[in-house]
Amino acid sequence: MQPVCYRLESAWQPDGGPFGRFTFTLVNLSDSPLRDFRLVYTSLTRIIDGAACENAVFLRRNANFHEFAPPKGFILGAGESWTFTVSGLHRQAKHCTDGAKSAYLTLSDERHVPVAVSDLLLEGATSEPPPQRLPQGKIDLPYALQPWPAKIDVVPGDGFPVVLYPESGSSKDEISAADTVLALFHRLFPGGHAPFTLASSPQGRPIVFAEKPELGPEAYALAFSEREIRLEYGAAAGRQYGLTTLAQLLDGARREGGKFRFPVSGTISDQPRYGWRGCHLDVSRQFYPTADVMRLIDILAWFKLNIFHWHLTDDEAWRLEIKAYPTLTTLGVLRGPDEPMLPQLGNGAEPVGGFYSQDEVRAIVAHAGALSIEVVPEIDIPGHSTAALVALPELADGQEAPESYHSVQGYPNNALNPAIPLTYEFLEKVFDEMVELFPSQYIHVGGDEVANGSWLASPLARKLMEQEGISGTFALQSYFLKKVKQMLTARGRKLVGWNEVAHGGGVGTEGTLLMAWENPKVGIELAREGYDVVMTPGQAYYLDMAQAEAFQEPGASWAGTATPAHTYAYEAEGEFPEELKHRMKGVQACIWSEHFLSRGYFNRLVFPRLPAIAEAAWTPKAQKDWLRFAAIAPLSPIL
Ligand code: ACM
Repeated sequence: MQPVCYRLESAWQPDGGPFGRFTFTLVNLSDSPLRDFRLVYTSLTRIIDGAACENAVFLRRNANFHEFAPPKGFILGAGESWTFTVSGLHRQAKHCTDGAKSAYLTLSDERHVPVAVSDLLLEGATSEPPPQRLPQGKIDLPYALQPWPAKIDVVPGDGFPVVLYPESGSSKDEISAADTVLALFHRLFPGGHAPFTLASSPQGRPIVFAEKPELGPEAYALAFSEREIRLEYGAAAGRQYGLTTLAQLLDGARREGGKFRFPVSGTISDQPRYGWRGCHLDVSRQFYPTADVMRLIDILAWFKLNIFHWHLTDDEAWRLEIKAYPTLTTLGVLRGPDEPMLPQLGNGAEPVGGFYSQDEVRAIVAHAGALSIEVVPEIDIPGHSTAALVALPELADGQEAPESYHSVQGYPNNALNPAIPLTYEFLEKVFDEMVELFPSQYIHVGGDEVANGSWLASPLARKLMEQEGISGTFALQSYFLKKVKQMLTARGRKLVGWNEVAHGGGVGTEGTLLMAWENPKVGIELAREGYDVVMTPGQAYYLDMAQAEAFQEPGASWAGTATPAHTYAYEAEGEFPEELKHRMKGVQACIWSEHFLSRGYFNRLVFPRLPAIAEAAWTPKAQKDWLRFAAIAPLSPIL
């Protein structure tokens, strides 16, 4: 790889503009002077007043893509720096990840060359120790279980069995279940000692399985003795959870024998608090190859989560292969200096793409299914559709004024148009292929963040609104989403969406599940309207939120910051009136990937808050214990 010969440093100061001021310094580490060049960087802190910059000329912006030129005639000599300031910002910078996420230069011959970037510095900041995320913790009972079970009454053994094995006479499904959890363990902890063997072992301890449907499908009970371990289970999921509990107990006792033990007698009887225990992954802003997605699913299984919400499309890319529309995953994924979509969110001089072929999707769905995890796919419509519109420009109203509205992320005219018949033809075909790929009864259709004012400059939309007596963006959104719901109903599927699906008249509550993300109160309001809800409030369950207010903490903070302690303690059901509690179907972590440019940032923000949410999803409130969780969390697998 060529060494990168330029670096862009950035700093922010709170005064010097309505939302403070950036100072950028481009350092030329090459052996040659630079002239006639342009500088591009991507930054979530956007420039809205291009004139408010000094010693540079602002050329253009698209969402978080920004392009500048130096002053006319400027030459950046080898070893020299060019400094310019920008004060026309759309908001304050709050964290070290709010500056340039990537940069490149375009030279006079239109070649693009990479520029390294550093985290944003806060001017005038004094040195502070990093905030503590996880205290040392304290355990009253020496068992390494995550999530903690509903009921545990066991006696710690002095040692632990060498290995556990299905007793002879176990059914093929029971032996296979032990194999599944054994394989899961090996994938998650390749250096770990196998908890199970499929052959009986004189030094080991047999697991005696008993199916008890009356327990409920996700429930299990373990009875420990010196001679054997009895595992009663309601159905396959409960059996897997019981085996996972055994694997965690044995692994903890092996890895930290001074702290964790394996039970020698007593019982565990366990079942989840909520039926929907989800984790979402945004693969549009950053692409996660199949192996990463499968590993995340493995981690979810280890924490007894049961829903993988796969956010497959957004403005930045459409990642799901649709055979009827191949350009979705040729044009609709490529971001680069000379590609149909500009670099965003950490992209630089090289084009980036990535999508899931239908074969990969099938493999991921099968992988999840074998671990009792349902994959709920999301295509985010009608907003967040820049990539689809780039791939299929015929879906736009050609007469709509350009830049007539902008999404909150700064994308212009990014919503599918409800007045274009092709929109519905497109969606029918997309859903036809999705129902073949995804067995889930649910399809998530987004519905979030359609900008107020969308479509109002589209003559076709105007005409439709007049014909149908519709007034305003959200009533038109409701008209559109009702049609989408009909398409799903016709295919035997239920509509899931973000909370704004209820705007402008909504889609009817029957068979609809909405995710309350904007704040907890929204969830209660939706339940009152009659919708089933899953709680994913940004204030506690968005894992891209920074974990403290300190500037050096990476992540976003538009929904506030969430320490792992806060995420753990948060009670989504807390303010639900008793009569609405039955509408609250569960909780979900959301992994939005704008800030996750590195595996390091991913792991730092997702863990241990993901297992904290898993415990909140599983463990009864009375059994939650932050210090116990903190003591066990360091054993968590990471991506
Ligand atoms: C969302 O965060 N826009 C669902």
